[in-house]
Amino acid sequence: MLKRIVVEGLSKDFTLHLQGGQEMSILSKIDMQVDAGECVVIHAPSGAGKSTLLRCLYANYRASSGSVNIWHEGNWVDVQSAPAQQVLAVRHSTLGFVTQFLRVIPRISTLDLVAEPLLMRGVEKQAAYEQAEELLSRLRIPKRLWQIPPATFSGGEQQRVNIARTMICDYPILLLDEPTASLDEANRATVIDMINGARERGAAVVGIFHDEAVRQALATRIFSIPAAVSLVAA
Ligand SMILES: Nc1ncnc2c1ncn2[C@@H]1O[C@H](COP(=O)(O)OP(=O)(O)OP(=O)(O)O)[C@@H](O)[C@H]1O
Ligand SMILES: [Mg+2]
Repeated sequence: MLKRIVVEGLSKDFTLHLQGGQEMSILSKIDMQVDAGECVVIHAPSGAGKSTLLRCLYANYRASSGSVNIWHEGNWVDVQSAPAQQVLAVRHSTLGFVTQFLRVIPRISTLDLVAEPLLMRGVEKQAAYEQAEELLSRLRIPKRLWQIPPATFSGGEQQRVNIARTMICDYPILLLDEPTASLDEANRATVIDMINGARERGAAVVGIFHDEAVRQALATRIFSIPAAVSLVAA
């Protein structure tokens, strides 16, 4: 199997500054491997550290110990210890991350926002906009909204713009934190098709999905987080 993510001994403690610097252990010595063509669903109760694990995989969070090795353009990169410049390169071409909420950039239209990642990769303007339009149509964002910045969109509309902006890139690795949480049934089915399509094309997918039916439709494997939450004496 072609490995894409290898996590070894990953731990994450948070320091509670308002509690006299007490340490709270959330993730403890997590080992995890994800192959190309897999969709691994992280499943654990609320507050167990699912989003924390994804943020460590994206190097948004610095782990307390352990490594997160990402297969990037023919080499392994430990994004937990790599220099910032290299982490940005990995995010640019290898790691796509859909969070539950869109980070809205003021004054940029929806169409520009979705086409932007392709333009940044040097894709020709017309081709980039055609793909953006195709994705927005597929995700049922009405045409009248395409020229408007998504700041005033509904939660579900913003989430679909967020998905379009990531899925337009064909990333080899996808990290998904509840991407279907505020979608209606038809759009949820579309997003499930898109994620399964990416996986069938060889993407390695790691996702969090609260909905049992969505998990059933997507997961090739379930990964449970052991309950590690404990207070460690400071
Ligand atoms: N930056 C932070 N500082 C302090 N504590 C944090 C921080 N980020 C997360 N936590 C704590 O870590 C725990 C796990 O949070 P996380 O968001 O990973 O949970 P989750 O499993 O994704 O839960 P949910 O299913 O509700 O989204 C929570 O108790 C949270 O308060
Ligand atoms: Mg979460």
